[in-house]
Amino acid sequence: MNPTAPMAPSFLIVAIDGGAAAGKSTTARALSSQFNLLHVDTGSYYRAVTHELLRQGVPSDDTAAIAHAASGLALGTRVQGHRAQIEIGGHGVDEAALRGPAVNAAVSHFAAVPAVRSALLAYQRDQARIAREHGFAGLVMEGRDIGTVIFPDADFRFFLHADPAERARRRAAEGQQDSIAERDRLDSTRKASPLQCPPGATGLDSTHLTLEEVVARVSAPIAARLAANT
Ligand code: CDP
Repeated sequence: MNPTAPMAPSFLIVAIDGGAAAGKSTTARALSSQFNLLHVDTGSYYRAVTHELLRQGVPSDDTAAIAHAASGLALGTRVQGHRAQIEIGGHGVDEAALRGPAVNAAVSHFAAVPAVRSALLAYQRDQARIAREHGFAGLVMEGRDIGTVIFPDADFRFFLHADPAERARRRAAEGQQDSIAERDRLDSTRKASPLQCPPGATGLDSTHLTLEEVVARVSAPIAARLAANT
């Protein structure tokens, strides 16, 4: 069986990729409630793994130590509402810690290590099984490599972008200290699954759009497809 193939015609997979603060999470959250999809924020998974490796004192430049620690992580999933949340060693990770300065500064370094990506690969694909078990109509997964690597055969693949200045403004408005330009540079230039627009994906520039307008443009083709299938 092709592990990347959609699981059944009636099970919808939506992939949303894009750089930091491009509007992925707000869009994915809106789609999840509109279409009863499990919302999987893979950035929070990379953040949780980063938080755990920092807690274990693993240096972000020691590839062998990172590989050893990453392969030993016991990953689980808790579903809360429409949202899938990662557990490591049976524990969830506090959202504030995941978005704090220490994780912001380290996450792109850990995420560039192939062993970290492969530790999360099957786990991310398995979220489709979890979505089905919980009775969702599909899943919406956001990240950097969802349409290219995790679900290249997704029913819908979107790539969100926005001017760097507008994205920095959005992140600052959230009250966060985050060097998104540096994370984008690291994410786009790494060898393992770099941030890039998946071939054939629908690109959307959100610089001059409200979040409501972004959601409307992304949800319209999904609603049209579902209406055609009923
Ligand atoms: O929310 P924000 O746009 O700030 O970033 P995020 O989605 O929380 O992702 C945090 C970091 O995780 C990214 O900068 C990437 O380094 C990494 N990441 C990744 O490499 N692959 C993914 N599929 C998702 C996130």
